[in-house]
Amino acid sequence: MPTQPRQRKRPEDLRSHRWLGPDDLRSFGHRSRMKQMGYGPEDYQGRPVVAILNTWSEFNTCHTHFRERAQDVKRGVLQAGGFPVEVPVLSLSETFMKPSAMFYRNLLALEAEEVIRCHPVDGVVLMGGCDKTTPALLMGAVSANVPAIYVPGGAMLKGNWCGTTLGSGTDAWKYWAERCAGNLDECQWRQIEDGIARSPGHCMTMGTASTMTAVAEALGMTLPGASSIPAVHSSHNRMAAESGRRIVEMVWEDLRPADVLTPEAFDNAITTDMAIGGSTNAIIHLVAIAGRAGVKLPLEHFDRISQRTPVIANLRPAGEYLMEDFYDAGGLRGLLGRIPDLLHLDCLTVNGKTLGESIAGAAVYNDAVILPRDRPLSRAGATFVLRGNLAPQGCVIKPTCAEPRLLRHAGPAVVFRDYPDLKARIDDEALDVTADSVLVLQNAGPLGAPGMPEWGMLPIPRKLLRQGVRDMVRISDARMSGTSYGTCVLHVSPESAAGGPLALVHDGDVIELDVEARRIHLCVSDEELAERRARWKPPAARFDRGYGELFVRETTQAHEGCDFKFLHAGRPTPEPDIF
Ligand code: FES
Repeated sequence: MPTQPRQRKRPEDLRSHRWLGPDDLRSFGHRSRMKQMGYGPEDYQGRPVVAILNTWSEFNTCHTHFRERAQDVKRGVLQAGGFPVEVPVLSLSETFMKPSAMFYRNLLALEAEEVIRCHPVDGVVLMGGCDKTTPALLMGAVSANVPAIYVPGGAMLKGNWCGTTLGSGTDAWKYWAERCAGNLDECQWRQIEDGIARSPGHCMTMGTASTMTAVAEALGMTLPGASSIPAVHSSHNRMAAESGRRIVEMVWEDLRPADVLTPEAFDNAITTDMAIGGSTNAIIHLVAIAGRAGVKLPLEHFDRISQRTPVIANLRPAGEYLMEDFYDAGGLRGLLGRIPDLLHLDCLTVNGKTLGESIAGAAVYNDAVILPRDRPLSRAGATFVLRGNLAPQGCVIKPTCAEPRLLRHAGPAVVFRDYPDLKARIDDEALDVTADSVLVLQNAGPLGAPGMPEWGMLPIPRKLLRQGVRDMVRISDARMSGTSYGTCVLHVSPESAAGGPLALVHDGDVIELDVEARRIHLCVSDEELAERRARWKPPAARFDRGYGELFVRETTQAHEGCDFKFLHAGRPTPEPDIF
């Protein structure tokens, strides 16, 4: 059904009017300080004040175009009669932040929410792209619940090495394995370093960044087609300006995240995640975003949607192509146009139209990249949710990125108690490991690592690489990069540092994996496990103070989204007093 026009706000209803409109001493202060910056009432009075939350940073190599792109957003805001204000916020650099950008996702989410709330902001443009910036900004915007639109940063250009196309992450892992196996020399390795990241923009495989921006679009939080535009394409500048124009209208229409982020919108996001063969990280982020909106997403819900959704994006790491190819093939609109029967088409999006209206007329220009329904990469099951005595609260695996023969496997565990232990021993020639072993990493979860780093694609021991082994069953409470691949069982919950059964695994214990049956089983008797549990001691507390202490105290487990407990949906936070 076509959308109905929404009732429009009056200028005196603007949130910013509380700061800038009244004839009192406080408002005098606000207006005089606007004049300090050279702005008079004609610049802002009666106009929506639009905050552009910019995650630009010279540490964030994926966002190097954001200062320029913020100017495009401003142009659009001004054209539509708004008053743009650029506001820098924490940038989550996937590359440089340690222990993990995930450790700081909730910090940016909290900052975004409070920056919006404490300022005279009528509407907000969220600029992100590098992995965690997307969920963090969306989480903050949901909780603040003022009109908000997301401007995805766009993927970087395809990588190239002497004529061979390179994909972010995916090909780094692939060629590193070849280097470790002795098949690449240092000169070739440096050439790959030269060519794998060639322009501004986020990773151009279907990693977490591309997944989460696509998910943001499917949720209805971007303009149609925005998430597929490469960062350096001129369409990206135009999309940014268009988003600036649109947010001004959204303010007058009072179209807020709560109007867009319904349970059906989350179903659309999960369906999209499955159809693009998206990153396993999307599950954690979607659970967290939904938690802010008061929507519960149990892991089995992902599994259900996964089973009915074909993977039709032929993109690395599951497939062959890269984001630039995806854009040229019709992008996300083209892909969604192939699965309308799996979507809730009447969901409202930030452009004021329904999802159905937004994808109407979408076309696919290259069937090799966006596959026809009858020739999918996989008929169903981009991500499976497993349970068993090793993961009572669930864990996940991405079978499209695994060697099929390993999806049903039993083997003896080789246990690493934490990442330093893994690093110290994995390439030890004396390590008792074969291609049939199951590599287990403990203490790599939300609290144990901390921050649940992307360590879940445990490296194959060099001695096995030299024998030609390229995949093994690996199990951890960590995440893995969306650009990674392999038979990696991830997000084991509860995690080992919280006393989950993963902490009780010993070298030589047989672990059974049966992905089709959704089962992961530690072949140790209940009595023996109870004895081991009685002897188990939690790891020593790492933090006495600061953000780390807050993180460990407040962060939930993987199946709950790893958000801070005190940031979950609850009674709306009141507007600030202005005295
Ligand atoms: Fe920024 Fe991959 S490092 S998206």
